Amino acid sequence: MSSTYLVFAGTSHPGLSKQLEEALSVKLGKIQIETFPDGEIGVRILENVHGRDVFVLQTIARQPNLYLMELLIIVDALKRSGARFVTAVIPYFGYGRQDRKGTERVPITAKLVAELLQKAGVGYVITIDLHSEQIQGFFDIPVENLFGRPLLVETLKKWQLERPVVVCPDVGNIKLARAFAEDLGTSYAVVDKRRVNAKQVESKALIGDVAGRDVILVDDISSTGRTLREAAKVCKLQQANRIVAAVTHGLLMHTALKGSAIEKILITNTVDLQGDNNFVDVVSVAPLFAQAICRLQINE
Ligand code: R5P
Repeated sequence: MSSTYLVFAGTSHPGLSKQLEEALSVKLGKIQIETFPDGEIGVRILENVHGRDVFVLQTIARQPNLYLMELLIIVDALKRSGARFVTAVIPYFGYGRQDRKGTERVPITAKLVAELLQKAGVGYVITIDLHSEQIQGFFDIPVENLFGRPLLVETLKKWQLERPVVVCPDVGNIKLARAFAEDLGTSYAVVDKRRVNAKQVESKALIGDVAGRDVILVDDISSTGRTLREAAKVCKLQQANRIVAAVTHGLLMHTALKGSAIEKILITNTVDLQGDNNFVDVVSVAPLFAQAICRLQINE
């Protein structure tokens, strides 16, 4: 397929960049990204982008400060080189969890990042499973928030689970559990979680029935894995059988779930997976993002 648009990628996720390149049948635009001796990022666009529509792939995870800054600098370079329109393709929207003032004297980083992206020159954002849908309202430009659930459900249906029940590890995610349960034709239950601090959660009550059934824990993000681990403990206490999990964004999968009651976890590749992960199955979001890019190009 020949294209009138160009796709560039930052350094956050080389594997996904390659997959997107293949799914779109386009060559990634040439770009030089380097770190100066003092730690600052230097970028040079090595293509003529005058008057072109440009997509920039960058996931803001693992080293969010570095990759966010890199994205902003790439967009700035593109705009100053005459790109007509820049769309940021952000598989994991970092800083999205701080999306409201839940306590005193805290920032709303999701809004701050939205403003920074627009200020740099981003005209459109494509992302997937924002931590809360309202984050779209922090932007004054269109935000296409894709859904990871259909990808995860397709794979879960192939796992041979006995009388499965969907469980969300947090009351805030009931809507997600209900949607998964509808897709899988099963019921759902909820664990009552309380966040003690940034690193600690406490889960106690379970609303619903998991006894003698295989449990599918669902969430948008797993970071330290504590939320899933605690929820799995509660399900086990309530006599659940096997426990698996499905989440869109797996942030720290290399350490998160070792030694927990969860035997397997299904994630997408919005974040670059590192290390030893025998208990992790990955489904790629590249075809979905490729489809979104193609459709945008023909105004669908
Ligand atoms: C919280 O609102 C999210 O949906 C996840 O439950 C949370 O981010 C998971 O974090 P962790 O894996 O560190 O417990």
